[in-house]
Amino acid sequence: MTTEAATIVAIDRVFDETGAAAMLAVRDAFGPYGMYSNEGHATGYADELPQRIDAVRNHLRRRGDLSVREAAARTNYLRETYAYGDTIAAPGIEPFLRHDGFVEAAQRIHGRPIVEPAIVFANLYLPGQELAVHTDVPEFRGANRTTTSQWLLVAMHHSGLFERWHMPIATAIAFFGPGESGALITYPNGRDGRRVDIEPTHNTAVVLDTDSVFHGVDLVSGNEDAALAARPGMKVRPGADRWTLLDTEGDELAVVDPNSMRFSVSWKAYCFADGAERDTWRSHADDLRLEFILDTIDADLRARGVLDGPRPAPNDFAIMIIDTYTRFPDE
Ligand SMILES: [Fe+2]
Repeated sequence: MTTEAATIVAIDRVFDETGAAAMLAVRDAFGPYGMYSNEGHATGYADELPQRIDAVRNHLRRRGDLSVREAAARTNYLRETYAYGDTIAAPGIEPFLRHDGFVEAAQRIHGRPIVEPAIVFANLYLPGQELAVHTDVPEFRGANRTTTSQWLLVAMHHSGLFERWHMPIATAIAFFGPGESGALITYPNGRDGRRVDIEPTHNTAVVLDTDSVFHGVDLVSGNEDAALAARPGMKVRPGADRWTLLDTEGDELAVVDPNSMRFSVSWKAYCFADGAERDTWRSHADDLRLEFILDTIDADLRARGVLDGPRPAPNDFAIMIIDTYTRFPDE
């Protein structure tokens, strides 16, 4: 676990005024925006469990007062991909994808010189929405979200048992627009450290290791009607001064003032120590396998005295793994 070494690099000014305004133009020209949903991949182990059962369990622990429907409406924010590798989905995003400040910050955070931007995506929160504290889904050589359950990847990273295969990733989160609520909640010194809230100020950014640093989004304030009208599968269509929430039939559910939304753009990059490490990843020369992952965890749980006797069935073993390794801040 690398939390102690992780830092947060603040970038006070992402672009000049013209460049910052251009990011809002990119936002408005794109769309409609769909909800972020964990489609999930068949991973061959405890597949009935939600992919982020770790985060869901923690969220219900702290917000047990909410109905499942309201909890879903409040956390189903909107996400769309602007760039994936060199493929540009949102023209105009290129300066953001290749931002030198993000690359330099990523090098500092991980102490690794080779930084390869992988994805840029937009996050939009309606007033009334929030995101529970979590760490992002990490990647390992041979184990990523296309092959391995997300809760397992998260626990693997927190366990520290698979660092040899871990792929350090840096994330920049940049804020654009006038929205002032919905602070980025962070725990830069680990789950037992101090909570630090970062205001989502226009044209600023932070760069951090979101796979290691617990983080979330504080409640976005304002008229909550649109958030509470949100339905599974909804989309939001940009407009000049009113954006429209549409259900799966294309019928209007609600309208929202774009200036009341929290808009951030995330950039994620792989960070390699050298070309050899990058080649090992690309060539799959040293990949993890599920059986090895489970056996390694099994042996560690026995050494800790958590597991005795036969290994439990997958769903029960999953909960044991999460409760042992993925421990959330108390908040
Ligand atoms: Fe996150």
